[in-house]
Amino acid sequence: MTTAYVNGIFTPLSEARISPMDRGFLFGDGVYEVIPCYGGQPVAMPYHLERLHDSLKGIALSPSHSDAQLHALIDELIHRNGGGDLGIYLQITRGVVERRQHAFPDKCEPTVFAYTFPISPPSDGSIESATCFTTVTRPDQRWGRCHIKSTALLGNVLHMMEAVEENAEEVLLFNDHNQLTEAAACNVFVVSDDIILTPELDHQKLPGVTRRQCLELLAAHSDWAVEVRPVSLEEVLSAQEIWLSSSTKELSPVVRVNGQPVNDGKPGPRWSAAQQLFHQHRFSRP
Ligand SMILES: Cc1ncc(COP(=O)(O)O)c(C=O)c1O
Repeated sequence: MTTAYVNGIFTPLSEARISPMDRGFLFGDGVYEVIPCYGGQPVAMPYHLERLHDSLKGIALSPSHSDAQLHALIDELIHRNGGGDLGIYLQITRGVVERRQHAFPDKCEPTVFAYTFPISPPSDGSIESATCFTTVTRPDQRWGRCHIKSTALLGNVLHMMEAVEENAEEVLLFNDHNQLTEAAACNVFVVSDDIILTPELDHQKLPGVTRRQCLELLAAHSDWAVEVRPVSLEEVLSAQEIWLSSSTKELSPVVRVNGQPVNDGKPGPRWSAAQQLFHQHRFSRP
């Protein structure tokens, strides 16, 4: 039985209740984090809290919990859910209102909800431990503030369904100039001409914690050429390797795009080496 947290109370997830007048339900007026936890130990908490604050600021919502309180509630949630390998979902909405109106009310008590879900043990970078992804490509039709980790994810959900309809697990998204933005629930790295490429951050991409860690790990522990710059559709379609990055997947190799194999259709050597860096530094990074 999963234990959840709702506004100061730990409760069985099946008994957790939030009002339909919560602005998170009415408007998707909230933000969230997903924090991975391996062997009972959360990963990259400072980076997740930093982005949570940026997201809250992006929707002009004052935090109701201090960082120390968030740390304590997450530690308690991990403990109550038995530790192990877990994803921790943390959502903060603007809270419950009396009347549905678009403009924020002057005063509102934020709703804080968290629960845990099981995640796969992380990969050590060996080919056998890789969770491979197949993808399709689509024009990015989400909204103009993708840098906020907003719970308004309908655009992402519809794109993910386009992947599912093609028997794929993710969708690689491209802006009006046919440049890669990100995936429905991941950032993207591409290996082209032996260079590791990832698009620069802007309003069309979520600043992924895993993307940030990947760039830091490669800078500190590899001599590979890395370029943060626009990545074209052609570079993606002819890539030597493509990786997805997210907190609960770390780096995952893409082996097919639009039904065609990426290179030989197997996880590539650079993915393996980069994921080994995640494996070695899992708990020694911020
Ligand atoms: C749209 C989107 N981009 C990128 C990411 C990766 O972010 P992170 O590495 O912080 O999990 C996510 C994760 O949920 C996401 O939803």
